[in-house]
Amino acid sequence: MGDQVKLNAAGTEYDYPVLKGSVGPDVIDIRKLYAQTGKFTYDPGFTSTASCESALTYIDGDEGVLLHRGYPIGQLAENSSFMETSYLLLNGELPNAAELATFENTITRHTMLHEQLANFYRGFRRDAHPMAIMCGVVGALSAFYHDSTDISDPEHRKISSHRLIAKMPTIAAAAYKYSVGQPFVYPDNKLSYTGNFLRMTFGVPAEEYEVIPAVEKAMDRIFILHADHEQNASTSTVRLAGSSGANPFACIAAGIACLWGPAHGGANEAALNMLKEIGTPDKIQHYIDRAKDKNDPFRLMGFGHRVYKNYDPRATVMQKTVREVFDALKVTDPLFETALRLEEIALSDPYFAEKKLFPNVDFYSGIILSAIGFPTTMFTALFALARTVGWVAQWNEMISDPGQKIGRPRQLYTGPTQRDYVAIGQR
Ligand code: ACO
Repeated sequence: MGDQVKLNAAGTEYDYPVLKGSVGPDVIDIRKLYAQTGKFTYDPGFTSTASCESALTYIDGDEGVLLHRGYPIGQLAENSSFMETSYLLLNGELPNAAELATFENTITRHTMLHEQLANFYRGFRRDAHPMAIMCGVVGALSAFYHDSTDISDPEHRKISSHRLIAKMPTIAAAAYKYSVGQPFVYPDNKLSYTGNFLRMTFGVPAEEYEVIPAVEKAMDRIFILHADHEQNASTSTVRLAGSSGANPFACIAAGIACLWGPAHGGANEAALNMLKEIGTPDKIQHYIDRAKDKNDPFRLMGFGHRVYKNYDPRATVMQKTVREVFDALKVTDPLFETALRLEEIALSDPYFAEKKLFPNVDFYSGIILSAIGFPTTMFTALFALARTVGWVAQWNEMISDPGQKIGRPRQLYTGPTQRDYVAIGQR
C-alpha cells in the first residue's frame, strides 16, 4: 500500500491514498471523502486542489519552471516553432521532419473559413472588441462544422482540433480587419502559420505584403510562450464545459470568454494601458504606492501570478524578444524604458518581495505587439489564438480519459434555511 493520509472526522479515522505524479507535489485522493464522512472540502479558487490528472504541462512556480511534455519553455522558445510545439502538445512527442511537414500541411489546409461566416462579422458593430467577436464567431463554428462534433469519435476530435488551431488566425485577423473597415484577406498557403496570420492582419488586396522574417519569428515565439499553461482559469473552463459533452467549438468559445478577464488574458491589454497611463519613469513611484495601498483597487498589471512565486520564465523570453523586434523594425518605445524601470523599482520594494510578485508573461508582451502594429484591443485575441492548441490538447486529454466525469463542484451553503412562502400583500 502506498502513502496514506489520515483524517480524523468526529472521532473516526479515515485513510486517504496519496497519489504521486512524475514530478511536483503529491495529491491526496479524497474522492471517497463525502461518501465516507458526509463532508466536502472547501477550496474557493482551487488554491490547493488538483482538478484533474494531466501529462501535458508542468509548472514549478517557486523555481520559475515551465515544461511542455517535459521540454523547458526557454528551449522551445529558442529552438522550436509554434507548429512543432503544437504537435508536441497534441501528440506527446516532438515530430520528425516528415511528421511535422504532414502536420503543417494539414493545418494549412484548414485555414479558410466558411464564406458565410463573413455575415456574422457584419452583424457586429465596427467598434466591437475583438474578444467579443472571437467569442461569437468561434461559438458559431459548431453551426458550420457540424460534421466533426461527435466527441466520442477520436477522428472527429482530431479534425475539430485541427480546424480550431488552423482557423483561429483567420478569425482573429478578420476581427481586426472588420474593426478598421478593410476587406478580409484570405489565407495564402505558401506562407507559414504565423506569416499567414501577419499577412491576413496587415496585408491589403491592393498591395503585395512582405512578411518580415524577424517579426514572423518574434510573433511565432509569442505564440509558443502562450501555447499552454496547465490548469489555468480558461483551460479549466474549457475542461468544465467539455465535461458535459459539449462540442469543442462551444468549449473553446467558453475558454475565450474566461480568458478575456483582466486577471487572466486581458492583463496584456491592461498592462500596456497602465504603462501608457504611467508614461514616464518619474511617475512610477506614485503607481507603486497606489498598488500597495489596500484602499486603492489599483494593481500593477502584468505583475503577480497564482502559481509563479518567482520570475515567470515566459517574461524572461518576452523581455529579450522586445529588443529583437525593436532591432528588426528599427524602432524604439519609451514605454519599454518605463517598464524596465518599473520592474526594477517593484522588485526592490519589500511589498512585492514579501508577496513574491514578479513580472508575468503579460508585462512585456504588449510592448512587442504594439511595435509590430497591433492595437491593444487585439492583444488578448492573440493570446486566445495561441492558447487554442493548449485548450484543445487539454480537452482531448480529458475526453480520452475513460474515468472522465462531468465537472460538478459542491458548495458551502450559507443562505436561508427552509421557510414558507409569504403572500405579497403580507410582506
Ligand atoms: N499588484 C499589487 N498587489 C498585488 C498584485 C499586483 N499585481 N497581485 C497580487 N497582489 C497582492 C494582493 O493584493 C494580495 O495582497 P494581500 O495578501 O495583502 O491581500 C496578494 O498580493 C496575493 O494576491 P491574490 O490576488 O490573493 O493572488 P492570486 O493568486 O489570487 O492572484 C493574480 C493572482 C490574479 C494574477 C494577481 O496577481 C493579479 O491580479 N495580477 C495582476 C493581473 C495580471 O497581471 N494577470 C495576469 C496573470 S498571468 C496570465 O493570466 C497569463
